[in-house]
Amino acid sequence: MNILFAASEAFPFIKTGGLGDVIHSLPVALNKQGNNVRLVLPAYRDVLASVDSLKDLGTIDVPGAGVRHKVSIIQAHEDILGDYLYLIDVPDLFDRPGNPYVHSDGYAWHDNAERYTVFSRAVALLAKWVPGSNWRPDVVHCHDWQTGLVPAFLSMVKHAPATVFTIHNLAYDGHFSQHDFNSLALPPAWWSPDFAEFYGGFSMLKAGILFSDHVTTVSPTYAKEICTPEFGNRFEGVLGNLGDKLTGILNGIDLDIWNPQTDRHIAENYSVNNKFSKGKSANKKDLLRRAGLAESDAPLLGFVGRLVEQKGVDLITAILPKLFETTDANMVLLGSGHMAYETDLMDLAAKYPDRFHVHIGYSEELAHQIEAGADMFIMPSRFEPCGLNQMYSLRYGTPPVVNNTGGLADTVVDVSLKTLQDKTASGFVAKQVDSESLYSIILSALDLYKNKKLWQQLCKAAMQQELGWEASAREYQKLYQAEVDAKQ
Ligand code: ADP
Ligand code: GLC
Repeated sequence: MNILFAASEAFPFIKTGGLGDVIHSLPVALNKQGNNVRLVLPAYRDVLASVDSLKDLGTIDVPGAGVRHKVSIIQAHEDILGDYLYLIDVPDLFDRPGNPYVHSDGYAWHDNAERYTVFSRAVALLAKWVPGSNWRPDVVHCHDWQTGLVPAFLSMVKHAPATVFTIHNLAYDGHFSQHDFNSLALPPAWWSPDFAEFYGGFSMLKAGILFSDHVTTVSPTYAKEICTPEFGNRFEGVLGNLGDKLTGILNGIDLDIWNPQTDRHIAENYSVNNKFSKGKSANKKDLLRRAGLAESDAPLLGFVGRLVEQKGVDLITAILPKLFETTDANMVLLGSGHMAYETDLMDLAAKYPDRFHVHIGYSEELAHQIEAGADMFIMPSRFEPCGLNQMYSLRYGTPPVVNNTGGLADTVVDVSLKTLQDKTASGFVAKQVDSESLYSIILSALDLYKNKKLWQQLCKAAMQQELGWEASAREYQKLYQAEVDAKQ
């Protein structure tokens, strides 16, 4: 099957979170199953700099906010997708440094509505016709709000390919004003609660949900949660009405990139059966050294992630002083995000310099080193559509400590008498989302850590959990086929 993936980020070109990882690894898995996936991204400055063999396929004229943009469709070459990467090049909109969505001060680019409308219009044109090629997608698979208008534009086209829209995170809904809507020359009929209008503005995410043939999200539990007011972010009505047009398919991880046996970022490679203890302790030693913490056998906690409310960063800062005062645990944390969280964390690191190391910023390398070197991985998200970091930590034998939500609930098998006995336990799942529960579940984890035999059993069960893409890619494939059949 021919599948066009449309997204706003993809590893290794540009990545702000798990979306980038999925847009890299799901196409690889689908191609392994015999499909032909081609990917289209905006031509951000960093992306243009990281690919080669650029070939200009042609220029199209696309309406933006009160102006028409000359949009070049570029074919780029990269190792994994070969020549199947397309870039939508509009220098006025995408030739900017750094993060694709926000300015260096942390605020969203003022023209995001225009940027992703123009991108989506161009993707819809590409879906009908790839200049210089007779390749045509059977399915266009769009991801998150930045591509929400693609199914909407394709709904106006006769014999359009089937469209699948994946919600990676409902908290980001691409909500813009009526002024933006009018300036972008969108069809007036879309300004309706039945289409893109949403609470006085318009939402590109809602457009993706309502105009696509099928909606998926990234874990079965999150698919249920988002139909409730607690997690629905005001979309619970829209999503609840979808019925079986909404499916939760669990993300997988790239087992080659996140593989302790071959990972080049870590001090010593290991696997379940080879050098497990030696590898873990060499990586812990290396991580402590990099973090400027003293070498020690005391339990080492790790965290990697965006420093935003979703990730429960405030729960961590709330318990750390008590944790440092009542236990011998140390912690290494890598992340960037909201300034208030960054400041709180830095203050704590200054207060407990020999217990807590904070690295504010983005480092692919350190992320791998924390997964390998920490004894346990702390991820107390308030909600988590899927979450990849807890799966990376499972793969590295670093049991995750999580809340019972979304993909965390679907991937971590909580320690209990029964799961320890049947050797399925792979981490710790708090019953409630608050700092007291986090504190007490970490205490339970630290307690089990003292029992070296059981701890090793836990780590090894974690490492042996099925985490790859195979089963989920097959589910996507089935769904694509059903949508293609339904079109005929
Ligand atoms: P989300 O997509 O909500 O951010 P996920 O757990 O799905 O959460 O994916 C996060 C991805 O981003 C992982 O690959 C993680 O390693 C990476 N990541 C997040 N923050 C950083 C950081 N500061 N440095 C390096 N990698 C990071
Ligand atoms: C989002 C979610 C995360 C998920 C990722 C990839 O960023 O927050 O839970 O793993 O997308 O689907």
